[in-house]
Amino acid sequence: MHSVEQIDFSTLEERQHALERARYNLFGLKAHEVIIDLLTDSGTGALSTRQWAGMMQGDESYAGSRSYERFRESVTAITGFPEVIPTHQGRAAESILFSVKVRRGDVVPSNTHFDTTRANVEHQGAEARDLLIPEGRDTQSEHPFKGNMDVGALEETIAEVGAPRVPLVMMTVTNNSGGGQPVSMENLREIRSICDRHGIPLMLDACRFAENAWFIKQREPGYAEAAPLDIAREMFALVDGATMSAKKDGMSNIGGFLGLHDPEVASAARNLLILTEGFPTYGGMAGYDLEAVAQGLWEALDEDYLRYRIRSTAYLAELAEAAGMATVRPPGGHAVYLDAARVLPHIPPGQYPAQVLACALYLQGGVRGVEIGSIMFGKPQPDGTEIPAAMELVRLAIPRRTYTQSHIDYVGEVIAAVAAQADQLAGLRIVEQAPWLRHFTAALAPLA
Ligand SMILES: Cc1ncc(COP(=O)(O)O)c(C=O)c1O
Repeated sequence: MHSVEQIDFSTLEERQHALERARYNLFGLKAHEVIIDLLTDSGTGALSTRQWAGMMQGDESYAGSRSYERFRESVTAITGFPEVIPTHQGRAAESILFSVKVRRGDVVPSNTHFDTTRANVEHQGAEARDLLIPEGRDTQSEHPFKGNMDVGALEETIAEVGAPRVPLVMMTVTNNSGGGQPVSMENLREIRSICDRHGIPLMLDACRFAENAWFIKQREPGYAEAAPLDIAREMFALVDGATMSAKKDGMSNIGGFLGLHDPEVASAARNLLILTEGFPTYGGMAGYDLEAVAQGLWEALDEDYLRYRIRSTAYLAELAEAAGMATVRPPGGHAVYLDAARVLPHIPPGQYPAQVLACALYLQGGVRGVEIGSIMFGKPQPDGTEIPAAMELVRLAIPRRTYTQSHIDYVGEVIAAVAAQADQLAGLRIVEQAPWLRHFTAALAPLA
C-alpha cells in the first residue's frame, strides 16, 4: 500500500443527524460522515505509481500537448478509433455525440441506458428505449450475459419507428443500471449485423470495457485463452464509436473521451467540444489527467488486476447472501446490487424501498450505497402518480484498488445487521425533486 487515507468514525446519533440534514438523500452527505463509501466506483479508485509518474510529466500546453499524444495513442491502440476527442467525463462525450446525431422524435435503443445517457437522449427530445433480454430483468437468473440486448426487440423497434428515426444503437458494457452484468461478444456481433442491415451506427458506452472483456474470457466459449486486451479490441472493432468515462476502466479520478471512426461526425463533435469543453487536444482535462488515463487504460486490462477485482466483488456478494440479503445474481463486475424489492416486500415501489435500504445501511454502519430504483428511473406522470422502475436495487460499488478485505468484511457485518431488522423499515416519500436526474438532489421524508 502506497499511501493511506484516514477514515472518520461516527456514532449512530451523528449519522441520524447527518441523514436528516441530507433529507434522506445520501448524495447530500459530507464524505467525512461516511465510513465506507460505496456510492460509486467512478473516479474513486487509487492511482498507481506509474500513473503518478506520468502525471508529473503532464504537459499543460493549451494546444498540441505531448500528454494528448500519449492519451490518443493509448486510446487508439486499445480501441482502434482514429478520432479521439477528450472530454472531462463520460456524460460530456454523450452530450456531444447525441447533440450531433440525435434529433427530436428519434428513438435510441440500448441494452439499458445509464441515467446520464438516458437524460442526454431525452434532452434532445428523443426516446431512450431499453431493450434488455428478459433474463436481465430477473434478478435471480444465472444467465452468464444478463447485459445482452434482446435482438428480436431491436428488430421490432426498427420496424416500428423506421431506421431513419433510429440515429444510433447504444450498448452499455457492462450494464451498470442492470446490475453490472456483461454483454457477450456473440450479442455484440448480432446487434452489429442488424445495424448493418439497416445502416444504423452502433456505439458502445464503454465505461467498463475491461471488466466486460474479463467476463467474456471467463464465460464465453472460445475466449478462455484470449488476453483481455485482445477481447477488448474485438469488442471495439464491432462498433462505430464509443463514449467513455475514464473514471471507471480508465482507472482515473476524472476524464473521458468520445472515440469515432467517422471523420465528419468527429469534426462536428470537435466544434461542439470547443464550445462546451475546451480545445480538442485537452477537452475538459488537465494535461496530468490525460497522462493518468493514458496509463490507466492499460492497467485496467491487466489480468491479475481483473482477477482480483472481479473476485473481490463476488466476495462481498457472498457475504451479503450469507446474511440473508438478496442480491442480483450472478454478482456484477464493479458492484454488488442488493435486491430491495425482495428484502423489503412490505414497502411498495412508490415508497422507494431501495432508498429505504440505502438509508438503513448508512444509519447502521456509515456504509453509503446508491439507489438504482424508482427514484432514479421511475417516471412521474402528470396526474402525480409514477410508473415505477423495473427493479429496486441498492448498488454497492467498489472503488478500484481502494478497500482491503477487512473493510469489505465490515460492510458484510453492516449488511447482516440491516437484514436482521428489514421487516421494521418503513417507506419514504419525495418532498422536492428536479425535472431530470432527480436522484442527485431529491429531498425525501420518512412516511412513518
Ligand atoms: C454505464 C455508464 N455510462 C455513463 C456514465 C457517465 O459517466 P460520467 O460519470 O463520467 O459522466 C456512467 C457513470 O457512472 C456509467 O456507469
